[in-house]
Amino acid sequence: MPIKYVPFIPEPVEGQAVLGNFNRILRYKGADEVSMTLQRGMPLYEMEKQETVGENADGNMVIRGECVSACAYLKEQGIQVDLVYIDPPFASGADYAKQVYIRRNPKIAAAIAQAEQELEFEDMKVFEEKMYGDVWAKEKYLNWMYENLMAIKSILSPCASIFVHLDWHIGHYVKILMDEIFGEDCFVNEIIWQRTTNTGSSKALAQKFSIDTDSIFYYRLGDEYTFNKQYRPYEEEYIKRFKYEDERGKYRWTLLKTYSQDTYDELDRQGRIRWGAKARYPEFKQYLEEGKGVPMNNIWTDIFHVNPQAFENQNYATQKPEQLLERIINTSSNKGMVVADFFGGSGVTAATANKLDRRFIHSDIGVNSIQTVRDRLVADGAEFDVLEIKDGIQLYRNPVQTMDKIMPLIPGLRKESSLDSFWAGATADSKLGTIPVYVPNLMDSSSKLLDTVLINRVIHQAIPELDTSIKKVIVYYIDITSEEEIRKFIAQDDSTTVEIELRDLKTVLDDVVIGDHAEFRCEETTEGLFTVYTVTIDRFISDRVLGKIMEYNQKAMLNSKKAFKPIEISEDGLELIEFLSLDCTAADGEWHSDSEIKIDKLGYVIRNGQKTKTFWDGTIQSDKFPLRLKIRNICGDETIWEV
Ligand SMILES: C[S@@+](CC[C@H](N)C(=O)[O-])C[C@H]1O[C@@H](n2cnc3c(N)ncnc32)[C@H](O)[C@@H]1O
Repeated sequence: MPIKYVPFIPEPVEGQAVLGNFNRILRYKGADEVSMTLQRGMPLYEMEKQETVGENADGNMVIRGECVSACAYLKEQGIQVDLVYIDPPFASGADYAKQVYIRRNPKIAAAIAQAEQELEFEDMKVFEEKMYGDVWAKEKYLNWMYENLMAIKSILSPCASIFVHLDWHIGHYVKILMDEIFGEDCFVNEIIWQRTTNTGSSKALAQKFSIDTDSIFYYRLGDEYTFNKQYRPYEEEYIKRFKYEDERGKYRWTLLKTYSQDTYDELDRQGRIRWGAKARYPEFKQYLEEGKGVPMNNIWTDIFHVNPQAFENQNYATQKPEQLLERIINTSSNKGMVVADFFGGSGVTAATANKLDRRFIHSDIGVNSIQTVRDRLVADGAEFDVLEIKDGIQLYRNPVQTMDKIMPLIPGLRKESSLDSFWAGATADSKLGTIPVYVPNLMDSSSKLLDTVLINRVIHQAIPELDTSIKKVIVYYIDITSEEEIRKFIAQDDSTTVEIELRDLKTVLDDVVIGDHAEFRCEETTEGLFTVYTVTIDRFISDRVLGKIMEYNQKAMLNSKKAFKPIEISEDGLELIEFLSLDCTAADGEWHSDSEIKIDKLGYVIRNGQKTKTFWDGTIQSDKFPLRLKIRNICGDETIWEV
């Protein structure tokens, strides 16, 4: 249960035309629900610190949790943000997957004498895992987005700007939401990012233009917002027009403009003479190399998608390039300002903000994002806290996978085609017959919390649409405003005779999350004056990953037309390890990574954030006695053992 609710925006939104225009123009569904959610406020949950990397004097944060809850936390802490960039799911109808790479097993590699040899990328076995879904009904998406944008607005500083990155699927609708939330007057630009140039060959595009752009909607909160003009280099053609030799002799130089003295004086009065031009008064010449370039317009064609070979590539579906964020951050913030991304993904915003000396806040709902950005920032030498919002559910990696896991665990639940999609399915009872079951969707924050809005919908919308023979329904919840309040609400409403049973979904989820098993030993050796502790992993068993691989093998076998070679995992299972860390500071509580090893997808070791050209040998070392060992498997589950 949330500790409390924090109001959206400085004041509750009473009196503001919440979706009023939208409702009228587009007959937009769900406006009432949004307005009730907004009046209730943002749920504030306990926050647990998982790890501190470095001193972190700037208060940088990596938060695992939903955008709205992260904003509730920031608002409660009195933290304001000067620049927000978000790249939320696009409502594109796509499901995004993480590529899972089986790592190189040190023991097997040694046995077959490949220790010195680089394995071909294709030799690495790979399978995919669902990471997050991007399949929404339009109304649902807009309700959700409205809530998120209102939450973000609540924590903006008076000089803040916000950039929302979308595309043709939903961008135009969100522009209208943003006009309503931030005000049409505060719209600054629509930036068209040409992300690619050659998508014209697919079958789907036979009868239309190829779609190569995304839209980034840029709003400011008030009049005093940060805007640092950006420039792009002069075009070659332009440069050629002005080049000739000057009296400096050996220099080729460019005369852009020569002003008359009157013009010069006027410009000087207006404070528009720059670049040391005064020194050359009265004949004012601008040298090309001293010029800043051409002021940037809203069409950005010079930034390309992340190259798979690039250092910044994190293998994160939908990852955006650092260059894009560099331009946004340079435009709308100055050094020391706070830059946040509440749908942070691979951490492009946090990583770029850190490089540009800004403070950063990254939040995301998926564990894969948190691990990716954590490792990325460690490699960059950043300092930050890793925090987790305790919103009542223990996620199984991410909401999509948790949903997949829970469904089969709900006793007796089966799909029932005659029921509306509101119901997850039904169970059968010898006396009561069919019992429809409602299961909240973890991807949809509006359904995660059982409140009077939702139970009202069950009583007045979902139950009346059921067959009249239905006597009972089961409503699962993850989070509930107050069980007493909801039961009272049901008891006081006499419009249905159908029994409503409430059940806590967390009891089911607790069975889903089980740790991995590791066998390891720790040895102490002395090298000269130094003592070294070496932890050797002898065996690693992850039922969760093995289950995934089995599932993959079975599916691939059924679908494969040629002979299929299944993925096989060795007895010791070391190829299922992606990351190891030793905590030599504390035996419990938040994690201190005193020594860490990440094994990249080619089997090379990244030691304490530094890439090496050595393969992993099955060990991890520290110079202090290790108290705890953490292992992350290739799917992202982490388990901790006492050493
Ligand atoms: C398009 S990706 C962001 C990619 C990112 N810009 C990058 O360059 O890597 C969208 C992200 O939003 C996250 N997400 C989805 N729903 C969320 C929610 N309600 N709160 C926070 N994060 C969410 C997903 O886990 C995913 O990482």
